[in-house]
Amino acid sequence: MVDLNRRTFVGASIAVGGVVATAPLLAGCGEDQPANTATSSVVRVRINGEAREIAVDNRTSLLDMLRERADLTGTKKGCDQGACGACTILVDGQRVISCLTLAVMHDGGADITTIEGLEHNGRLHPLQQAFIDEDAFQCGYCTAGQLMSGVGCIKEGHTGSPAEIREWMSGNICRCGAYTNIVTAVANAARNATTLRGLSSTTRMLTGCASDI
Ligand code: FES
Ligand code: FES
Repeated sequence: MVDLNRRTFVGASIAVGGVVATAPLLAGCGEDQPANTATSSVVRVRINGEAREIAVDNRTSLLDMLRERADLTGTKKGCDQGACGACTILVDGQRVISCLTLAVMHDGGADITTIEGLEHNGRLHPLQQAFIDEDAFQCGYCTAGQLMSGVGCIKEGHTGSPAEIREWMSGNICRCGAYTNIVTAVANAARNATTLRGLSSTTRMLTGCASDI
């Protein structure tokens, strides 16, 4: 007859419980489990009007895909954590902080515009020209982001006053402090766009005026 006292019963329960609890953890340790192969994806997007299919690791930010996979290094990486605006681009016409969004989230034909896509047929975008005219940069590191954000700001109609422009461009940091000239450039481009929209397309064609904004 087995001598089953309380001490031996509890000891046996712990031993059996341990085996039962550990079994699922150990199951598979000694076997080759099928590897998770879904760590990369092909992202289908339009970048500056061109259809692209780009293979990326699923953890790749949109910024890194543009810079490292699409060879579009005009979009700058400043903080890589959403604090400086240097990586601003347009996705389907909306301003997007590209370091804060995964590339795979835009699979399916998102329409992406980067700084490389602003000029048309060798002609600078009106806001690019305004930045030159107003001397709206020094080192230039923030400039691509400022321009993309400025285009978005103008399209959104947030250019009623210098204060409004400053408010709606406040996510774009300029370490050189070129803010005054940036605001002036955005205001001038917005004013010119409004004027141009009032001209007929024939007049614009004859005068060679661009109204890309
Ligand atoms: Fe994206 Fe600074 S690099 S916000
Ligand atoms: Fe140097 Fe803006 S021009 S950071």
